[in-house]
Amino acid sequence: MKKYCLAIVLALLLLGISCQKKDATIIVSSPNQTNTIGFGLTAEGQPSYWVLHGEDKVIDTSLMGFEFKNQDPLAKNFKIVSQSERAFEETWEMPWGEQREVENKYNELVIGLEETEDPKRRLNIYFRAYDDGIGFRYGFPSQQGVDSITIMDEHTEFQLTGDHMTWWIPGDWDIYEHLYNTSKVSEIDALAKRDHPDLAQTTIPENAVNTPVTMRMDNGTHLSFHEADLTNYSGMTLKVDTEKLKLTSELVGSARQDHKLKVALPAKSPWRTLQIADKAGDLITSRLIENLNEPSVIDDISWFSPMKYVGIWWEMHLGVSTWDLEATQDMNTFATLDREQTSTKHGATTENTKKYIDFAAANGFGGVLVEGWNTGWDHWIGFEDREGVFDFVTPYADYDIAEVNRYAKEKGVEMIMHHETSAAPRTYDQQLHAAYELMQKHGMHSVKTGYVGKIIPSGEYHHGQWMVNHYRKVLETAASYQVAINAHEPIKGTGLRRTYPNAISREGLRGQEFNAWASDGGNPPEHLPIVAFTRMLAGPIDFTPGAFEMTLPSKPNNQINTTLAQQLALYVVIYSPIQMACDLPENYQGQSALQFIRDVGVDWEQSLVLNGEVGDFVTIAREERETGNWFVGGITDENAREITVDFSFLDPNRAYEARLYADTSESHYRDNPMDIHIESVEIDANTQKTFKLAAGGGFAISLILKGAAE
Ligand code: NOJ
Ligand code: CA
Repeated sequence: MKKYCLAIVLALLLLGISCQKKDATIIVSSPNQTNTIGFGLTAEGQPSYWVLHGEDKVIDTSLMGFEFKNQDPLAKNFKIVSQSERAFEETWEMPWGEQREVENKYNELVIGLEETEDPKRRLNIYFRAYDDGIGFRYGFPSQQGVDSITIMDEHTEFQLTGDHMTWWIPGDWDIYEHLYNTSKVSEIDALAKRDHPDLAQTTIPENAVNTPVTMRMDNGTHLSFHEADLTNYSGMTLKVDTEKLKLTSELVGSARQDHKLKVALPAKSPWRTLQIADKAGDLITSRLIENLNEPSVIDDISWFSPMKYVGIWWEMHLGVSTWDLEATQDMNTFATLDREQTSTKHGATTENTKKYIDFAAANGFGGVLVEGWNTGWDHWIGFEDREGVFDFVTPYADYDIAEVNRYAKEKGVEMIMHHETSAAPRTYDQQLHAAYELMQKHGMHSVKTGYVGKIIPSGEYHHGQWMVNHYRKVLETAASYQVAINAHEPIKGTGLRRTYPNAISREGLRGQEFNAWASDGGNPPEHLPIVAFTRMLAGPIDFTPGAFEMTLPSKPNNQINTTLAQQLALYVVIYSPIQMACDLPENYQGQSALQFIRDVGVDWEQSLVLNGEVGDFVTIAREERETGNWFVGGITDENAREITVDFSFLDPNRAYEARLYADTSESHYRDNPMDIHIESVEIDANTQKTFKLAAGGGFAISLILKGAAE
């Protein structure tokens, strides 16, 4: 891996520089003093903290504490036994990403606590103040006579300072594929989201939200709560006190265990993070989450290259073909069909795969995904006894894995593996080595995994410690076979792509697939302008954009609620190092808009958020690595609007071949989604230009550098 790391660790005592003692409160400020954390003990000796952004309190005094099994709570009667500060600064390189260089600069405060009475247990708290937010984590040191701790719950509070506007999904322990809700904190009602007709798994025990959860304060400051480096711990939801306007960590549990998690000592919790931004777009460019993770442990990731891909996928969601040799379920209702009702429309045949390979090769796509190639699909959704069913090495009789790989190689395309585990992780675990050996044998370097359904064994949840450890094991095992993971129904991204750059992308949101079969008809136009400021803060998204046929003839009750220009803009707005062009090859035939997907980059030197408001609109410009070409994408919600772009980010000494893909005055996501206007335009670093976006619309611009410097 091309990587350099300029680490300047100024392990100096900053007492009096950025940290000082004031009224028994210890404070640490970010390098430019924008954000300040205060720490102290209450009269009962309970740890507490607050956070300032400029002069404004964004988190008021909030308590910290833990409940353990067979032990008293670890919360009160503490004294401070140590305190150290340091400033840290480094620049690290993303092997692939939204930008090449990342500055990681913070001031750290480490507090050592000890109970004043027996058993005098100890707890360390690590605070980091960044200019774009703050993070803190707990450290449980080795203690005499104790080799592990069993945590019943963590009580980390975030006392808000107002009834902020909030973009939230329910604190589901099993899935993040909910629509975002927009409400004041006092109006959050996650329990109302319990019964979901389209989700094969959902568990919402509390009025809690999942992270990232984003808020806007009345003064315009934006906050987003999340976590970083989720390792051997349970995912964190945030319980909402709608009266006190307080969030409290509520860890995902397990009905098989009477506790939330168990860890050997010494141990550290994930970082609890708060990104703080004066304008919404600064949340997107914040790299706080990745910065709070450890450097890469994978020395060589050169075997993975960011790419665009196509695949045998959308046709199954449209009901045009099936994963199984014979259709076993109705994709609208998930009802199991009688065998008599089914017909053989298997998608993953050798012949059909070759059609996609030809299309990929002709249009410069790097990969072809094939779902439904292996045995097990006849016992998928609707079946409870899914253990031991999916087989990750045995193809269906009409799929010749050696031949498709040979053919793909001949055409300069790489096959992408698919492993639907049906949420039976033990079955997958048993076959991991054999599955990745098969991939290695065929030169396949990436796999899309899936975890649809309730976890087997019953009582475990997708976001609990047991599954967090499963997802990690998959990542680590895959790395040893030079395999990269794109997980669907995943655990949320917490910046681990820094440590494991083979964690290339994931779902973990309501993706394009819902447009094909959601009982509510499809994602509303505001969905992605919310996702960009919420889910996207957790890292790359395999949203699978690029639908060109928006009316979905095979799905009369569904449609894609965006214009075609917006589908193009998504390649820039929604970041992932792998980007699908999801539609059927025939729907791209003769479409000049395909040129944008052929041209657009997938790996970026830098990314700029030019404007945006959560839930309304956003415009992003990204410079492609190696070529210096720029791509701009803008999207809007259900409201048509004008967006003015100042192109001063372009190199003033270079000329660009600019092509605009825009909505027409007739375009509308509902009645006229496919109307698009494509033209060559004159754009250079002095240009300011206003673009008209239709309702549910967008615009995309490719700026290809002309050969010679002027
Ligand atoms: C759900 C995934 O999100 C989708 O992309 C995939 O096609 C199905 N599971 C089947 O694995
Ligand atoms: Ca899914």
